[in-house]
Amino acid sequence: MTGTHSPGGAAAVRVSAPATIGNIACGFDVFGLAIARPSDAVVARAKAEPGVTIERIRGDVGPIPADSARNSAGAAARAVVEMTGARSAGLALELHKGIPLAGGMGGSASSAVVGAVAADRVIGAGLSRRQLLQCAVAGELAGSGSPAADNVAPALYGGIVLVLPGKSLQVVELPVPAELWAVVVRPHLETRTEDARRVLGEHVPLKAAVTQWANTAAFTAGLYASDWDLISRSIRDVVAEPLRAGRIPGFARAREAALAAGALGFSLSGSGPSVFALCRGGEAAQHVAAGIRRAFGESAALDCEAWASPVNRHGVRVEDVEPEGD
Ligand code: HSE
Repeated sequence: MTGTHSPGGAAAVRVSAPATIGNIACGFDVFGLAIARPSDAVVARAKAEPGVTIERIRGDVGPIPADSARNSAGAAARAVVEMTGARSAGLALELHKGIPLAGGMGGSASSAVVGAVAADRVIGAGLSRRQLLQCAVAGELAGSGSPAADNVAPALYGGIVLVLPGKSLQVVELPVPAELWAVVVRPHLETRTEDARRVLGEHVPLKAAVTQWANTAAFTAGLYASDWDLISRSIRDVVAEPLRAGRIPGFARAREAALAAGALGFSLSGSGPSVFALCRGGEAAQHVAAGIRRAFGESAALDCEAWASPVNRHGVRVEDVEPEGD
């Protein structure tokens, strides 16, 4: 049964959130960037029975659990119910997975964001963005096992963000130079974030740490000044990438191809296996995407999908939808 909704809440909403690039090379767990496509979406409807249920999952479904406590979108919606105290609220979710699973493109984070935002709209709670972020991070943790917010925050806020570590989940929105484009290429491999985190160990050599924190500062300064040289020389990861890239056949050749085609920088997207490049302008981005695909194909016989777009500045989107008849 549908159509019973809270005063101030919507009967039904459709919410979509984009794929994201976590880390942006140098900012392990703290930098993230939203791209235009692909995206995940949820249609959420108020229902009479209390509780959050996942009615259907469409698209790249894989092993995604339909149990709302273990599904990113469901767990994020439950966190909203918990935070608002709306225990009698009933929500039926239909999830549309457009972002490839286990691809390093923030799919579980985008699902968590759509779950949190949809629940907030249907309940009519009017949570702040920071509160929605907290609920979405709870969803991401339940769905993927990762507590990092570097995918959740850009999926919610859009643009390029810095998430300060710690419980406060403070987000700093960084400037996006007008011509900045992002390319993401997903070779047809799967990597679980949990596994890719396990290879990292606990310690970072001092020399690598110095390089990495200089690069995070230089990247930030480069964005503020639209300084392409500084942006380019700072898109480097000497901490996680060296330990992870060996799991991706053709990675070194893909990097060479990206840089030869004019990329500003190249690295893993989040924990991989997708890779990303940042570029100045759309033409460069198209060349870079084609070069990376070709390199994976020729050096490792891997098929790939590729997306190229300007940085997505808006993040999550909400539309009201007509409620279904009972
Ligand atoms: N920053 C994470 C990692 C990606 O590299 O493991 C998912 O948030």
